[in-house]
Amino acid sequence: MTDMRRFIERMPKAELHVHVEGTLEPELKFDLARRNGIELPYRSVEEMRAGYDFDDLPSFLEAYYEGMSVLLTEQDFCALTTAYLTKAHSQNVLYAEMFFDPQAHTTRGIAYDTVIRGIRRAQEDARSRLGIRSQLIMCFLRDMSADSAAEALEQSLPYREWIVGVGLDSDEKGNPPIKFKAVFARARAEGFRLTMHCDVDQKNSTRHIRQTLDDIGVERIDHGVNALEDEELCNEIMRRGLALTVCPISNDCVTGSLKALEIRRMLEMGMRATVNSDDPAYFGGYVNENLVATQEAADLSRDQVVRLVANAFEASWLPADEKRALRGRLDSYVESAVGA
Ligand code: HPA
Ligand code: ZN
Repeated sequence: MTDMRRFIERMPKAELHVHVEGTLEPELKFDLARRNGIELPYRSVEEMRAGYDFDDLPSFLEAYYEGMSVLLTEQDFCALTTAYLTKAHSQNVLYAEMFFDPQAHTTRGIAYDTVIRGIRRAQEDARSRLGIRSQLIMCFLRDMSADSAAEALEQSLPYREWIVGVGLDSDEKGNPPIKFKAVFARARAEGFRLTMHCDVDQKNSTRHIRQTLDDIGVERIDHGVNALEDEELCNEIMRRGLALTVCPISNDCVTGSLKALEIRRMLEMGMRATVNSDDPAYFGGYVNENLVATQEAADLSRDQVVRLVANAFEASWLPADEKRALRGRLDSYVESAVGA
């Protein structure tokens, strides 16, 4: 193993862009299908993995939603979340902000309460057993109506203390940020932090990123790599100090490029880029693999790798004291690793 790889693997990290439903590994999917008496269209884990051959966002989303059919009970959501947090902990992730997609479950007849209680139980258990801290971000599905998003927001209010922010995911084509202007304004009034996906190489990518700034007022941008095509847009993102949660292996799966050189350019310009796994069970890499792939493809220096991870701690939605404490653990690690 190279020194750089070892340095990355042992580094205390944060993850800000991971969909909990996208962490459903084929083995667990089979177990849950068996437990719930659901027939899957695959005979084996290998066959399922071989079917994960995406060339764009819609082809990924088809597999992603199909996979959720095995998640029925609170116990299932708990098992899913426990598996992710255990894996993240094994990669020295100290803190994770996880997206979940309630509409993808309530439209299948699963109660909002079932979904969030299962996830919450796993978060509490992982924190006390492993020490890994996590928070939840509720995503609205942008290919559903704004009314449906408003309904999901309403359903979330009894669990307000369990959700730190709201986001927007699913198919971006024809579903611009502005479609959700009213529901995001309402979410802000309820005290939620705001982020949105601006997926890579979409039609109207830069226009959508501009809307997240001018019409929505996001505090972070998920993906957002295409901002680099517009200097003014980059300047505005930097002026506001917004972080971008980039997901290189995901980008590679749906666009054919890790966008590693773009990440390096963001760092060189002073943009607050971070590296994340998105849907690791489908794209085949957790946060360590994403950082290693990016470092190798863009020949990042150790300082640049540290900058990516420091950006994630700094852009996290934790209280300031907790943020400082986690950042301190990164600094101690870097100090102890100097010359190693
Ligand atoms: N983009 C859009 N929708 C998604 C993603 C993503 O990266 N992951 C899960 N749903
Ligand atoms: Zn995503």
